Amino acid sequence: MGVQTIEEQAWEALEKTIIYYQGKPVGTVAALDPDSDALNYDQCFIRDFVSAGLLFLIKGKPEIVRNFLEETLKLQPKTGQLDCSKPSRGLMPASFKVELINGREYVRADFGDHAIGRVAPADACLWWIFLLRAYAIATEDMELVHRSDFQEGICVILELCLVTRFDMYPMVLVPDAASMIDRRMGLYGHPLDIQSLFYASLRASLELLLPTQSNQRIIQAVQARLEPLTTQLRENYWLDTERLNEIYRYRVEEYGEGALNQFNIFSDSIPFYKLAEWLPEAGGYLAGNLGPSQLDCRFFAIGNLMAIISSLADEEQSHKILNVIELRWSDLVSHMPMKLCYPALEGADWHIVTGADPKNRPWSYHNGGSWPVLLWMLTAAARKMDRAELAHHAIAVAERRLVQDRWPEYYDAPDARLIGKESRRYQTWTLTGYLLAKELIADPSHLNLITFSYGGVL
Ligand code: GLC
Repeated sequence: MGVQTIEEQAWEALEKTIIYYQGKPVGTVAALDPDSDALNYDQCFIRDFVSAGLLFLIKGKPEIVRNFLEETLKLQPKTGQLDCSKPSRGLMPASFKVELINGREYVRADFGDHAIGRVAPADACLWWIFLLRAYAIATEDMELVHRSDFQEGICVILELCLVTRFDMYPMVLVPDAASMIDRRMGLYGHPLDIQSLFYASLRASLELLLPTQSNQRIIQAVQARLEPLTTQLRENYWLDTERLNEIYRYRVEEYGEGALNQFNIFSDSIPFYKLAEWLPEAGGYLAGNLGPSQLDCRFFAIGNLMAIISSLADEEQSHKILNVIELRWSDLVSHMPMKLCYPALEGADWHIVTGADPKNRPWSYHNGGSWPVLLWMLTAAARKMDRAELAHHAIAVAERRLVQDRWPEYYDAPDARLIGKESRRYQTWTLTGYLLAKELIADPSHLNLITFSYGGVL
């Protein structure tokens, strides 16, 4: 027998992670590390399954994705209620598990009520819509999408995002730690990672919802939200040299409609000199968060890459984001693609913002750690903008380490040379992130499952 390729090894490891319910494959566990406590890594996380689902669709195995979509849809609460111990209508769980009780199988969901830190999974329902659209494109199985339970499932997610709110911004308001970064990292309010996903799921919903009488109200609301959401993100989250100059000279305490500094950002809160030096002239990116007197200038990979993939960022902005990644490669990619967030919070910032979280020490885990799962998003974004060389380079960098390091969840250190301190081995989305990147680069036509066109919205 010949030596197995990296891809064959990854597939072999991936197949072991599949979870079955009533004899049918329904998802994948988060990690199968023989040397660590499972904690909740033996569950299927909605966000973690997305890259696996896309890969299965590309490889002509849509059943597991269909089963996943159907089973998770059953977990979603459909009625509104006033009991705080129950999940809200429309919410999707962060993860689920198949349990055997007295010889019978049950699917048990975690809506954040068991998760470490009791964090709310605001991203799960958005990823769910994103994957449903990919399933529809790959299989053309519109019968499933048009089924009344699926139409209702999409509508209640949209209602949750569009209706329930205190503020009057077009962005969606979420609590801290409501996405892949599921620990305190200063992401309460309107974090970019969620806004990019929100935008993608609004675009996807317009393709998935039938124009029935009962859907009209929600379809119109989605159409009405897309324009101000896009403008807000493209304008007020955007950072490049020109924008930095505007913000640097902002006036404060402006009242009313004509205010330029709408969020009353105090220029002393922004490290202008450092940022101006770091940000290449040809580059730009979307800021990590925006709110009253808050413009978080950290670079967040998911939000920026998803903005390119979904066309939330326009063409020029998308190229500028990729320019930053290319020209600041040693900061953002270095020895493992790529940093989830850059730069790390250090000193008093780390203490105050993370609550002195030892797992999120500077340059570790979510706080400046590097996550191989991001390889598929980087590949998709680069390929979409016809910059495949960036993706090839990133894949080559990852291939040097992943097998010998046994597919770690994340890496630590400013240059990503250390295997994450508490990182799981055989982390499923590390396997699928790599395999999916290989598929996307080998056949870019698969990008149609995940990308959205420019225009048609504004
Ligand atoms: C960690 C990550 C989260 C992921 C989960 C399972 O909690 O922060 O994003 O979904 O592990 O892999």
